[in-house]
Amino acid sequence: MTHGSPTPKHFPFREEVELRGHIIDSLLLPKVLDEISTLGGEYESHDVQIGHHRHDPSYVRLLVSAPTPECLDKILSTIGQHGAMPVAMQNCRLEPADIAGAFPEGFYATTNEPTEIRVGSEWITVQRQEMDCGIKVDGKTKQAQCIPMCEVQQGDQIVVGRAGVRVHPIANDLTRPQGFRFMNSEVSSEKPKQVIVREIAEQMRQASRGKGKILVVGGPAIVHTGSREHLSWLIRKGYVHVLFAGNALATHDIEQSFFGTSLGISMDHGGSAEEGHEHHLRTINRIRRVGSIQNAVDQKLLQNGIMYECIQHQIPFVLAGSIRDDGPLPDVISDTLEAQSKMRELVQDVTFCLMIATTLHSIAVGNLLPARVKVVCVDINPATVTKLTDRGTRQTIGLVTDVEPFLRVLVQELGGP
Ligand SMILES: NC(=O)c1ccc[n+]([C@@H]2O[C@H](COP(=O)([O-])OP(=O)(O)OC[C@H]3O[C@@H](n4cnc5c(N)ncnc54)[C@H](O)[C@@H]3O)[C@@H](O)[C@H]2O)c1
Repeated sequence: MTHGSPTPKHFPFREEVELRGHIIDSLLLPKVLDEISTLGGEYESHDVQIGHHRHDPSYVRLLVSAPTPECLDKILSTIGQHGAMPVAMQNCRLEPADIAGAFPEGFYATTNEPTEIRVGSEWITVQRQEMDCGIKVDGKTKQAQCIPMCEVQQGDQIVVGRAGVRVHPIANDLTRPQGFRFMNSEVSSEKPKQVIVREIAEQMRQASRGKGKILVVGGPAIVHTGSREHLSWLIRKGYVHVLFAGNALATHDIEQSFFGTSLGISMDHGGSAEEGHEHHLRTINRIRRVGSIQNAVDQKLLQNGIMYECIQHQIPFVLAGSIRDDGPLPDVISDTLEAQSKMRELVQDVTFCLMIATTLHSIAVGNLLPARVKVVCVDINPATVTKLTDRGTRQTIGLVTDVEPFLRVLVQELGGP
């Protein structure tokens, strides 16, 4: 069977590829065939074995042909992201980095999907899977890991080209335990939220019993909407294992502790407090004067709220800086690469990530997470979730809602007030 462009019958540049797993129901096979045709190639199926039952894997071998080597290369790298790999067994090609802080030209650029590379005729799993990195191989220990560009040292062995690299898209694997019933649902404000929140609560309950690690990424709307007690409760009860945020969440949280306001708005009556617009500056100043949030807790200056609970329960947090920060608080890491690196360390064993009301930090963290981590993004604006999935965090479930009712119902589902 030949498909794609009608003439010539076979283009001169060819490669045989194979695709296995749940490629029919996950729609990976049609996606691959469509990419080949769209990019100007042809395909011929050489072997097709379709699984009989829902959990049976399928297998397809295709001859892909293209009019130029560049076109073939483009097709193979695109369909490779969907798990279609050349049949010919080749080792990956390694090249030493000629300078620090950059990959050799032609480096293999990673996705967030599980990846293996073939070294010395053996397939090895790439560790610390992360999108938009390269792969560094340690020849002695035969270990491979994703490495961001800025961390490359001169002489590091870096994978170049896509030979000997195979990707196993998680969408392929329908045999994994089904976490979310709504896993395939689209971003919508018209979903029964109680059901979704119940499932999120169940995931968090399991993780809190030692079966995972929960990362919360939060924006200041958590405090502005009067939800900080909900998040504080979640931290107190062991449902948050790591917190990522920026200057604003921590500042307004502490502002509420000091002045009872969030960005000058009274949390009691919802009106502007007198000279309230200065409260967040006075808050930052007060913490800067004692040196850190930890010191403020130790000196009993800070006695409640999100950051207080993190300190009390030894929950690691990263407050990553941004160009719009006032102060910032002394705990904010204003070197973005240093913040990224600290976040990278802390996401390694995360299994579930709840992103709440921050576009900046949600997308930044999405870039660091491997595709196996379940991600729920709660935001009042559907565009935030769409941006996250468009930038590669495709495993994201979007919940379009105001953060306050979401957190209130989540806490209730988990047995809180
Ligand atoms: N004074 C300061 O220092 C200061 C003030 C603001 C922000 N910042 C910093 O700027 C960076 C970006 O800030 P950001 O994360 O707030 O902005 P952002 O624009 O990245 O994200 C804000 C998100 O909150 C969502 N949102 C707003 N109200 C909501 C609600 N009620 N329910 C659900 N979602 C809601 C918006 O749709 C948006 O997606 C951060 O690093 C932050 O710390 C600093």
